[in-house]
Amino acid sequence: MTNILCIGAGYVGGSTMPIIAKHCPEDRVVIVDINEERIAAWESDRLPIYEPGLDEIVRQTRGRNLFFSTDINRHIAEADIIFVSVNTPTKTFGQGAGKAADLQYWEKTARQILENSTSSKIVVEKSTLPVRTAEAMERILNSNGHGFHFDVLSNPEFLAEGTAVRDMQNPDRVLIGGRETESGQKAVEKLVQIYAQWVPRERIITANLWSSELSKLVANAFLAQRISSINAISALCEKTEADITEVANAVGRDERIGRYFLRASVGFGGSCFKKDILNLVYLCEHYGLHEVARYWEQVVTMNEYQEARFAANMVTSMFNTVAGKRIALFGVAFKANTDDTRESPALQVCRALLEERANIVITDPHAMENARYDLGDLANRVTFEIDPYAAAKNAHAIAILTEWPHYTQLDFERIYHSMVKPAFIFDGRNLLNHKQLYEIGFNVYPIGKPPLTHLGKYNSKHN
Ligand code: NAD
Ligand code: UGA
Repeated sequence: MTNILCIGAGYVGGSTMPIIAKHCPEDRVVIVDINEERIAAWESDRLPIYEPGLDEIVRQTRGRNLFFSTDINRHIAEADIIFVSVNTPTKTFGQGAGKAADLQYWEKTARQILENSTSSKIVVEKSTLPVRTAEAMERILNSNGHGFHFDVLSNPEFLAEGTAVRDMQNPDRVLIGGRETESGQKAVEKLVQIYAQWVPRERIITANLWSSELSKLVANAFLAQRISSINAISALCEKTEADITEVANAVGRDERIGRYFLRASVGFGGSCFKKDILNLVYLCEHYGLHEVARYWEQVVTMNEYQEARFAANMVTSMFNTVAGKRIALFGVAFKANTDDTRESPALQVCRALLEERANIVITDPHAMENARYDLGDLANRVTFEIDPYAAAKNAHAIAILTEWPHYTQLDFERIYHSMVKPAFIFDGRNLLNHKQLYEIGFNVYPIGKPPLTHLGKYNSKHN
């Protein structure tokens, strides 16, 4: 039996470890966190995160070989392998503020592992970290005078929220980086054996520590770059009557390009893309690679432009003013099937419209609590309404900001009749049937496609 510990019971720790517990019934998996409320929620019927399919796996494994605890020190002492999945947000102070990763939680964990260990251990970086963090980790851990040895591995996580269970059960690849020493390779093999319980061996890639750490940042940068690329072209489509869905399809059919991650949108959100690209930018600057830094920084700049452009387009289309107008935001999660609102483009649009003095109503099936928290004081100026029909009632406009599938099933005829005329829909996800909405009477503004409006001279050529 291997004693596996995970420090950090957030989205990553909380969705990966139950799956390890499920597939490794002989091993004991404990997840610890400093946040008592979070741990209590993991132990309850209402998990602290909304992730489809996760409840079922937690129910199967909890109390069998999966345990949650706040007693971090005791579990460190007992562990053979320690995964560290604490948060590594963008630094908000001092050197590198706004770009570099804030490694304070990470370093605190390393010191805590050192203080509480009574035997040699494998320590696995699960959090996303700047390249060469493992070197600092090794220095801290192996500065003990007790003769224990710590092998540090990098095992970045590639799951996406909303599909975490599927991604972890059936990953494209598992990446494990380790030192090329005998002990390092033994540690790599030990971790390979855990994943090999359910992941085909050819999908488990081993690499050197630095390649593994860097690959995580690069994978996120490449994914985000595709979205910024298609979003940049969506702006050009809106000027030229080209249709972004047709362009993405034509371009993506080339196998060298590929069809995934070419959905134009109001922008990418989530806790990682922006943070990881800025981290990459900071690293490039640190190594004097200024042109490389500028290249990647543009991915984030383009995303900010897309969010701002969407909000500005709403104002312009609604006769240059939204002051005092009720606007319903459909969806506030950064993507569908999650309650996560971190860096959600919906919040950016919300802030921009509040700035224009609109009356904002937010509706979302799972993410309103987090949205309220993220908006801080601004939440007092927003109405939260779980029922989309009630949110749209007496509104001048609806903005679709999260691609929740059930929005396609709503009775838009009913919604149209309850709204102020002319009624507008701004579809930031190209989710709905635009022609149908137009026929009902809406003025429809998709992303990267000609608007469908009844506003005569404003857009007569598209009617
Ligand atoms: P999170 O904020 O949801 O969870 C982190 C948890 O760590 C929190 O519950 C926090 O209380 C806990 N923590 C912080 N310091 C601690 C300490 N000293 N001891 C014990 N617990 C501590 O973050 P997350 O979304 O799970 O992300 C964690 C890491 O994984 C980040 O580096 C992130 O970039 C990376 N990552 C995230 C995702 C994702 O989809 N969210 C995917 C891949 C990688
Ligand atoms: C992303 C990566 O997909 C994961 O591989 C990675 O592990 C994770 O970041 C991480 O490191 O945190 P996630 O942010 O959960 O996962 O979700 P994505 O599906 O990548 O979506 C990110 C954002 O891009 C969302 O706002 C989504 O709506 C948007 N998006 C995605 C688009 O606008 N267009 C697309 O074609 C795809």
